[in-house]
Amino acid sequence: MSANRTALYGQADHDLAPSAPDAIQLSPLMIGSSDIAAIESESLNAVTVRAPAGAIERRFVLAQALRTLAAGARLTAFAPKDRGGLRLKKELEAFGCEVGESARRHNRICMVVRPATPKGLDEAIAAGAPRQIAENGLWTQPGVFSWDRLDAGTNALLQVLPEFAGAGADFGAGIGLLALNVLASKKVTKLTLVELDRRAVEVSKRNVADPRAAFVWGDVRGDAGLKDLDFVVSNPPFHDGGGEDKALGQAFIRAAADALRKGGVLWMVANRHLPYEAILAESFAKVRLVAEGDGYKVFEARK
Ligand SMILES: C[S@@+](CC[C@H](N)C(=O)[O-])C[C@H]1O[C@@H](n2cnc3c(N)ncnc32)[C@H](O)[C@@H]1O
Repeated sequence: MSANRTALYGQADHDLAPSAPDAIQLSPLMIGSSDIAAIESESLNAVTVRAPAGAIERRFVLAQALRTLAAGARLTAFAPKDRGGLRLKKELEAFGCEVGESARRHNRICMVVRPATPKGLDEAIAAGAPRQIAENGLWTQPGVFSWDRLDAGTNALLQVLPEFAGAGADFGAGIGLLALNVLASKKVTKLTLVELDRRAVEVSKRNVADPRAAFVWGDVRGDAGLKDLDFVVSNPPFHDGGGEDKALGQAFIRAAADALRKGGVLWMVANRHLPYEAILAESFAKVRLVAEGDGYKVFEARK
């Protein structure tokens, strides 16, 4: 074990749990982070975890964190009470830890020292690892967007998706379901899947094994270097860190307009209540509401 190697999973909150400025970032949602599954066992001196809300994903992360810690090193995990925080203590106890718990700003904070022989780590890690869905053969991982079911928004878009041609992109491509459907058209020459969640990027590479596909682990709001595209498809996210964030979808619309050639099209789906019309009208020459129903609306916007 090196002198002082520590890690952080998720955004730091020094008020809830201190972390070192040089801690290795392990969250798959942070571009450039390291994969927690690839960290050597018993190699870290301290780990701080902003625990995710999904139960299988959270136990996977806690188990991985305990696996990477040296015996006697400390894990600090925190989460909002109503997003898994109330379950942290029991979950850590189930791994054989003695847990010190405190409460602050509607969060629960749990501190443990890694026991010499934690229990049940392998099972929790196996349960949260990438897996193949039996029904359709697609790869997925607990924690990835809509990881165990077809999203209703994606489905609404798939119902009306036209045959595209030329070069395009899928903004927020998830496990690659939309991309697979886009690539069913032989006239598509290239499709770039841009996605923030490294886990989704990894499984989408397995799902979309097509030489026309390119994969970018990146933020649509940054510069993915995409220009003069013929089309963009997107089921944009509208949650950021738990709260609803319509600005995120609006940023996706602007980024799509920037990446398209004149006359290129954006096909996107949105929850019916989200206010995207004004930004679409501002960024595109022509906007058409293609379909509406089941709480969703699908737009075609031409630049
Ligand atoms: C509503 S999901 C759609 C996933 C997939 N296209 C589908 O239809 O099943 C939105 C996706 O955008 C990703 N995402 C969120 N913020 C992002 C960002 N700033 N840049 C790129 N992708 C992002 C999420 O991880 C998620 O996979």
